[in-house]
Amino acid sequence: MYALIRKKRDGGTLSRQEIHEIIVGYVAGTVPDYQVSALLMAIFFRGMSDRETADLTEAMVASGETIDLGALPGISVDKHSTGGVGDKTTLVLAPLLAAAGLTVAKMSGRGLGHTGGTLDKLESIPGFRTDLTASAMIAQAREVGLAVVAQSGDLVPADGLLYALRDVTATVDSLPLIASSIMSKKLAAGAHAMVLDVKTGSGAFMARHDDAFALARAMVAIGSVAGRRVVALVTEMAHPLGRAIGNALEVTEAVETLRGGGAADLRALSLALGSQLLPVARRGGTVEEARAELADLLSNGSALARFAAFVEAQGGDPRVVDDPEAILPRAQARAELSAEQEGYVASINALAVGDAARALGAGRARKGEAIDPAAGVVLLVGLGARIAVGQPWATLLAADDEHLAAGRALLGDALRVSAAPVEPPPLIYGVVHPDGREERTARSIS
Ligand code: URA
Repeated sequence: MYALIRKKRDGGTLSRQEIHEIIVGYVAGTVPDYQVSALLMAIFFRGMSDRETADLTEAMVASGETIDLGALPGISVDKHSTGGVGDKTTLVLAPLLAAAGLTVAKMSGRGLGHTGGTLDKLESIPGFRTDLTASAMIAQAREVGLAVVAQSGDLVPADGLLYALRDVTATVDSLPLIASSIMSKKLAAGAHAMVLDVKTGSGAFMARHDDAFALARAMVAIGSVAGRRVVALVTEMAHPLGRAIGNALEVTEAVETLRGGGAADLRALSLALGSQLLPVARRGGTVEEARAELADLLSNGSALARFAAFVEAQGGDPRVVDDPEAILPRAQARAELSAEQEGYVASINALAVGDAARALGAGRARKGEAIDPAAGVVLLVGLGARIAVGQPWATLLAADDEHLAAGRALLGDALRVSAAPVEPPPLIYGVVHPDGREERTARSIS
C-alpha cells in the first residue's frame, strides 16, 4: 500500500491489478482505513484517468453481489439523479417507461441533508413497502414492468466502506470517486441502458456547470467500458423542481403529472429524460418520436394506470392515484410566507428550500433519522411570475408550531424579487450521448 499511495501522490497511474488488490484488501480488512484515507486524498488531488476510474468501478462492483436482469422480458432500464430539491422525477418517469414497454427494476436510496430520496416519497403512501429482496423485485418487474426497492447492502459493499471514509476525510467531492461510487451501484443493479440526470446549480452537488458536464462524461465513459448504454443530461438545480417539496406532497404532484397536468418543469424534465433514454435503450427511433410517444402515454392514462399497479404490487393503497390528498398523511400545522416586495420572481433558492423542508420534518440531517411524511413546502409562485407585496408565495406544512418556526427561519431569504421582468433559466443545459459526444442545448454559466 505504501508504494501505491506514493505512486498516486506523485501523479502516477495505478494499474487495474493494483486497484483490484486495494479494493479486495480494503473490503477484507487487510488494508487499514488510514492507508485508504491517504490514497483517497492523493486521488482527490491527482485525479484518475478514465481507465483508472473504470477499473476502480469494476473492482467496486466485484466486491459484492450483482443482479442479473437478463431473464426479464423487454429491455431493462434504470434512471439516476445526482440529487435535488423537489426532484420526484422517478415517480413520473419509471411508470412512464414501463408503460412504453421497458422494464424498470430499480434500487433507490433515502434522502439526506437538503435532498429528498425516492424511497421516503414512496413510503409516504400507506402500506407501501420498499424492503423487497432482489428476487421479489425481479418477479414484480416481470409482472408489472416496474419495481422500486431499497438498495441492498449486499451490492457494492466497497462503496459503503469508501463512502463512510470519504465522508470523514473531506474526499467526497472528488469527480472520479463520485463517478465510480454512483456507477458501481448502477452497474451492479443490472440495467442494460440508463439515463443519468446530473444536476447543476446551487442546490446540486456540482454547483458549476462545467463540473457537472465533466461528471456526466465520466459516468457515461464508465458505462461504455462496462458495455452498458448510458446517456446523461445536465439539468438545472438552482431552483426546486416543481412546486412541492416533501414526501407525500411530492407524491401528490407526481400523480398530477401522471394525469397529464402538474408543474411544467417536472413534466418537461420527465419527458426530456425519457425521450433521450428510449432511442438509446431500443437502439432505434428518434428523440422526437419518443417524446410524442411518452406524451401520449401521459395523456391517455397508461402511465397513471401503471403507477397504480406498481403501488398495489408493493402493498400501497392504489386509490392514491384517484384522490392523493384523501389517502396520504396530512400535516397538522400550516403557515404561509408572504412577499415583502413587489416585482417578478427572480429566484427561489433550492438549497434554502431543501434545508427548510428538512427542518419542517421532511428530511434528515443524519442517516437513520425518522421523517415526517406529511411535512414540507408548497411553492405558490413560479419563476418569472409577477408578485405583489403581501401575496403568499409558499405554504409551510409540519407536525407542530415548533417545526413550522424552524422551517420559516430557513426559508425567509429564499425568495428573490426583481423590479424588472425576468426570464426563467433553462431547465436542460445539455446531453452527453453514449458515444461521449457532448451537446450543449442551452447557454451554460461556468
Ligand atoms: N452519490 C453517491 O452515490 N456517491 C457519491 O459519491 C456521491 C453521490
